[in-house]
Amino acid sequence: MATNRTFTMIKPDAVGNNYIGPILAKINEAGFRVVAMKYTKLSVESAGKFYEVHKARPFYGELVEYMSSGPIVAAILEKDNAVSDFRKLIGATDPSKAEPGTIRQLFAKSIAANAVHGSDSDENAEIEGNYFFAGSERF
Ligand code: CMP
Repeated sequence: MATNRTFTMIKPDAVGNNYIGPILAKINEAGFRVVAMKYTKLSVESAGKFYEVHKARPFYGELVEYMSSGPIVAAILEKDNAVSDFRKLIGATDPSKAEPGTIRQLFAKSIAANAVHGSDSDENAEIEGNYFFAGSERF
C-alpha cells in the first residue's frame, strides 16, 4: 500500500545556484507539506553510505564526491501518493529528458548535478528519511 511520505534532497548544484526558494515553492505549489527539514553538508562517508545501493555502478565515485561537495537541504514531504507524485514533479533523472515544467527541467544541468533527489519507493522513503531524521521530531 502506498504511504503518504517521501524523502528529498536539494542537491549542491541547486543550493549553490540559489534555487532553494524556487524549488521549495514548486514543492509547496504541488501540494506537498514539509514534515521535517535540515540544511546540512554530507561527508564523503555519509554520502557513500546514503548511496550504497549504487556502489557497483560506474558513476558511484563521482556521485559520492559530488554529493559531498557542498551543502544540501534534506526534507521529508507529505502528500497522498507522495513517492510517485514527487517523482512526476521532479522529472527524469537526466534533465535533458525531463518533461517541461518539472523541477529538473527547470533547475538542473546534468545527470550528476540534477538539482533534487526523490525516493523511488515507499520503503526507500522510510529508510532515507530515517538516515537524516532518526530521533528528530516530525511535524
Ligand atoms: P538520484 O535520484 O539522487 O539517485 C541516484 C543518482 O545517481 C541520480 O539521482 C543521479 O544524480 C546519479 N546518476 C544516475 N546516473 C548517473 C550517471 N550516468 N552519471 C552520473 N550520475 C548518475
